[in-house]
Amino acid sequence: MNVVLLAGSPSSPSRSHALLSHLQHELRRAGALCLTVALRDLPAQALLQADVSHADLQAALARVRDADAVVIATPIYKAAYSGLLKTFLDLLPQDCLAGKAVLPLATGGSIAHLLAIDYALKPVLHALGARHIADAVFVADPQARLQAGGHYEFDPAVIERLDRAVLGVLELAPRSRRNALATESI
Ligand SMILES: Cc1cc2nc3c(=O)[nH]c(=O)nc-3n(C[C@H](O)[C@H](O)[C@H](O)COP(=O)(O)O)c2cc1C
Repeated sequence: MNVVLLAGSPSSPSRSHALLSHLQHELRRAGALCLTVALRDLPAQALLQADVSHADLQAALARVRDADAVVIATPIYKAAYSGLLKTFLDLLPQDCLAGKAVLPLATGGSIAHLLAIDYALKPVLHALGARHIADAVFVADPQARLQAGGHYEFDPAVIERLDRAVLGVLELAPRSRRNALATESI
């Protein structure tokens, strides 16, 4: 199973990217082939000008196209997902997420905008064809602590939720693929 993990924070270090790193580790342990795309490392001008002829953008878009599962992590900005993530999602072809398992993750300053994944991100994922969306994980900043080495450590309860999310992706990915193939052959 190919999994692409999209890191949607413009910051480094990043709590939402740290969630992805944990998931990537666990998905690899379960045998998945994983690749993380840090959107902040993509060429900014090409992203803002929607220049999909740029080789780096083409490579990143191809990773999503070829994945069986897509994990999307974003910080909550102004009660929605990050603008950086939006610039990338806007470049994905229509129905790009059809037949893929999709797992949304978000970190926010508090739980005030816990529902931002549901009212802001999920409609976009749906518009891109996602029909197999695993239970989202939202983590509030007090549940993540920056360590001396520059990495984040999460509360045990967060780790439990992330590990359940891994199981959700592993379970959904083959099902979403089967449904996509069935739809293609109708
Ligand atoms: C520009 C900006 C806007 C933010 N807006 C919100 C917000 O509306 N709601 C919220 O809960 N947190 C908000 N935050 C806090 C971040 O979502 C939070 O610190 C998050 O964990 C950052 O993720 P990161 O470390 O991956 O960048 C905002 C932070 C910034 C920099």
